[in-house]
Amino acid sequence: MSIHNCQIIKFPIISDPRGNLSFIEGNNHIPFAIKRVYYLYDVPGGAERGGHAHKELHQIIIAMSGSFDVTIDDGYSKKKFHLNRSYQGLYIFPGIWRDIDNFSGGSVCMVLASEVYTEEDYIRNYDDFKKFVL
Ligand code: TYD
Repeated sequence: MSIHNCQIIKFPIISDPRGNLSFIEGNNHIPFAIKRVYYLYDVPGGAERGGHAHKELHQIIIAMSGSFDVTIDDGYSKKKFHLNRSYQGLYIFPGIWRDIDNFSGGSVCMVLASEVYTEEDYIRNYDDFKKFVL
């Protein structure tokens, strides 16, 4: 899997003077059914999250509030995305290493996931990741 497969997906926006509304339907606006939602919040300044890849899991990362950087790595090349809009998300395929940092104060990182949590799906060691993808 290449980092070039990992793209920003823009969600529908219903603009309204009372405030905007966006929505995400599994298998419609994103290419998988959503089995789990989790979110990072109260992230202290300078903290780094991620630092792993997944074997099977597909994910969409959304900056629901504030901003942060997501660096993706396929073992050959890297690309950094600055996420700061709640109407778009970064689609990350299995077999892609991700690091998340540069969190702004009050930021919320929400993740839509294709599977429930299982530690066996994680690759947390970078050398193991290189062996997995090469
Ligand atoms: P982890 O995925 O390593 O966090 P991040 O990539 O955001 O830095 O998860 C941190 C801890 O939380 C780890 O012990 C596993 C646990 N966890 C769950 O129990 N369920 C979940 O859905 C997630 C994402 C993590």
